[in-house]
Amino acid sequence: MISKLSVILLCGGKGFRMGSKIPKQFLLLKNKILALHSFDFFCQMDEVEEIIVVCEPEYRFFFKNDKITAFALPGERRQDSVYNGLEIIKNKNSIICIHDSARPFLKKEDVLNAFNEAKIYGAAALGSKAKNTIKLCDNNFVERTLDRDKLLEIYTPQIISRALLEKGFAFAKKNKITVTDDVSLVELIGHKVKIVESSNENIKITTPFDLKIAQAILS
Ligand code: C5P
Repeated sequence: MISKLSVILLCGGKGFRMGSKIPKQFLLLKNKILALHSFDFFCQMDEVEEIIVVCEPEYRFFFKNDKITAFALPGERRQDSVYNGLEIIKNKNSIICIHDSARPFLKKEDVLNAFNEAKIYGAAALGSKAKNTIKLCDNNFVERTLDRDKLLEIYTPQIISRALLEKGFAFAKKNKITVTDDVSLVELIGHKVKIVESSNENIKITTPFDLKIAQAILS
């Protein structure tokens, strides 16, 4: 059976750290709103069967591709937005690809690598080796310095089989657990997650400084 990808594109955040009136994912980045950079990328991928855009209804008009698009409402937490998107997905056998719309610079090779690993292991995410030393702190006092050789920064897309994602959500709900990324749900149920080396350009736009970096990458 040939698996296809169902994409949940997260555009439901408020983006307070950007300090702008409209959420960061709807700011312009080189004549195109931020979220459309990844939306257009997924629209052009043959492996993508459907795209669920999670956003407030007033922003739906930005996403024009009726063939594959459906919409879901944002939830309070990131994981609630993902859950709302999952409920809309039609294909019960697809593999789910969750992506932060605040990451505009996707590379097809990276996404296909993660898709292939997800087909083998059930769950995969893009990431890269930590560049800085990372310390576990309490109130700005160091408790422990973590071994950098074992630290990876985790990005999106995160690609997970539907069955695993549903099991992870059920566990998190039952145990009232909040997670900050999607493969964490799979980790909760003791399942392995494969990390796939990502291009350095796959940055998340969070602050005005990140927007300047993104503009520099594009020019
Ligand atoms: O806040 P953060 O940058 O980690 O959010 C990651 C992505 O999740 C963003 O694309 C944001 O729009 C989305 N999000 C969402 N619903 C929420 C919170 C965040 O769709 N409740």
